[in-house]
Amino acid sequence: KIVPVIMAGGKGTRLWPLSRATAAKQFLKMIGDETLFQSTLNRVRDDAVYEAPIVVTNEEFRFLVAEQAREQGVALSGIVLEPMARNTAAAVAVAARVVADRFGDDALLLLLPSDHAITVDDIYTGSITKAATAAKSGKLVTFGIHPTEPATGYGYIELGDDLENGVYTVQRFIEKPDEAKARTLLEAGNFYWNSGMFLFSANSIIAELEAFAPTVMAAATDAVAKSSKDFDFLRLDAKAFAEAPSISIDYAVMEKTQKAAVVPAAITWSDMGSWDAVWKIGDADADGNVVQGNVTVHNTTNSLVISRNSHMAVQGMDGVAVIASEDAVFVGRLDNAQDVGNLVKILAASE
Ligand code: GDD
Ligand code: MG
Repeated sequence: KIVPVIMAGGKGTRLWPLSRATAAKQFLKMIGDETLFQSTLNRVRDDAVYEAPIVVTNEEFRFLVAEQAREQGVALSGIVLEPMARNTAAAVAVAARVVADRFGDDALLLLLPSDHAITVDDIYTGSITKAATAAKSGKLVTFGIHPTEPATGYGYIELGDDLENGVYTVQRFIEKPDEAKARTLLEAGNFYWNSGMFLFSANSIIAELEAFAPTVMAAATDAVAKSSKDFDFLRLDAKAFAEAPSISIDYAVMEKTQKAAVVPAAITWSDMGSWDAVWKIGDADADGNVVQGNVTVHNTTNSLVISRNSHMAVQGMDGVAVIASEDAVFVGRLDNAQDVGNLVKILAASE
């Protein structure tokens, strides 16, 4: 069986002010009445295919994770707690160690981000099956999404040779290109977006981390060896984990490995990473506006307007996000939505 590993430790800064340090976006109800984290749990419920999931998250989010899993009636294999954020390479390294210890070195991990909206259908389950075969033979399998615009928030995957029924080698993996580069890749035609989901065996990802990010792997191994158990929680040793450099799995391993493979998958997928993505996935009215909460729009088009509390009125705007949480307001252009991450850095520095 496949062990789902859910990464739920990100802060989701580009969705400020709804996504906050205390309640990151994966724990919010962005669409429908489940949070993004809960939808992720519900995608791996089939116990003929999956073991109970492991969640890797930040110490601060431990009660949100436990409570939201309980609400869905999902039993977890465990909740691994990071004492501080060290990005996804360290989270993956820790997960691979825990899975290898518990399920064996050749156990398969399905690494899942918790900030996506994805529909489980035949295409989705078929893609997982194809990927599992390649992962058993040592490949680090990614899922490729057909790109529709020169987005700068994604990894880009160049298709290589056909390995076997719908699995291809990866010619090149380019994480978050700038816009000019993204345009070139889009025009080249043989590139896919990296969905952010990965399937690999514990031993192959550990080998690649040891080769390309040895300090991350060493810190993770040490942090797991010295961890302490507290009911479902596995607390990583803080001193050991702090030694891991902060780098994402995409930069640390996927751009460098020769073992990458891709399953191009026509799944219904959206990264809920930024306000433009939320606008795209929302139910737009005839003017292209997506609104939530106590909101009135007038002479306004192609905009996202959300208010959690106060009555908000927007007039004469096009292509903007106006987002009000209980205590903060954001106004900005949707075509510049990636930049909110930088804005939040400025806000944090001024606090
Ligand atoms: N446990 C843990 N610890 N999880 C983390 C951490 C951390 O320090 N940092 C981020 N995560 C979680 C996030 O909560 C999210 O679920 C997932 O890891 C991915 O992190 P993001 O920060 O959302 O990555 P991204 O969206 O910028 O880029 C990734 O996803 C894209 C598709 O959505 C990359 O894999 C890209 O290549 C990809 O295209
Ligand atoms: Mg993301």
